Amino acid sequence: MDGNGRWARERGLPRREGHRAGAESVREVVEACKEIGIKFLTLYAFSSENWSRPPDEIKALMELLERFLRKKTPEMHKQGVRLHAIGRLEALPDTCRSELDLAIAKTSSNTDLDLVLALSYGGREEIVDAVRQIASKAASADLDPEGIGNDTISEHLYTSGIPDPDLLLRTSGECRLSNFLLWQISYAEIVITNKFWPDFRKADLHEAIAEYARRHRRFGAI
Ligand code: FPP
Repeated sequence: MDGNGRWARERGLPRREGHRAGAESVREVVEACKEIGIKFLTLYAFSSENWSRPPDEIKALMELLERFLRKKTPEMHKQGVRLHAIGRLEALPDTCRSELDLAIAKTSSNTDLDLVLALSYGGREEIVDAVRQIASKAASADLDPEGIGNDTISEHLYTSGIPDPDLLLRTSGECRLSNFLLWQISYAEIVITNKFWPDFRKADLHEAIAEYARRHRRFGAI
């Protein structure tokens, strides 16, 4: 969800105002996914690398997330959204973590749209955590190293049980993966838009999906 900072700078506003406007795009895009019938949406809300931002920006982001969860969970629940979170969640502030746990518990039996928030998330860290689990199972003979395959890795990632993304959408013209779902996006279609995230609304999602629909996915075949 890139471009919050630049969106704010263009308006002479503090960066946190960009994040605030970005939260409104989150609300709208979740609603649009629900309307379109998309079953899984993962939002990269805070990366492992984002911990190196100035403390006041981190604080503003965590407070925004907490407020968003407190205010929007009833609405998301009504829309049939089931919330998940992936990442090293133990690093989040306690108040944010408990709001997240509450929202996850409240929405756990919904089935219309699975919304995954990537928080304190890094793709490499996720792979490291999976390898640690697999290695420890192999060391205690709960798993045969010879039997390790693609599925074994997928099942030990934070996203276990969640299908790999079909579409990776990046805003503000950035052409990088930025440590996002590195294993899972091996065959995702990538759509990049120049819009800053706070300007990204329903019509932009429809446009990105139309672009995705024009692609011919071959998965390495001809
Ligand atoms: C990247 O833009 C954005 C973030 C690091 C934060 C994303 C967070 C939100 C949209 C807030 C709400 C989230 C939820 C799930 C309610 P940037 O800050 O790197 O902007 P820049 O690239 O223009 O500097």
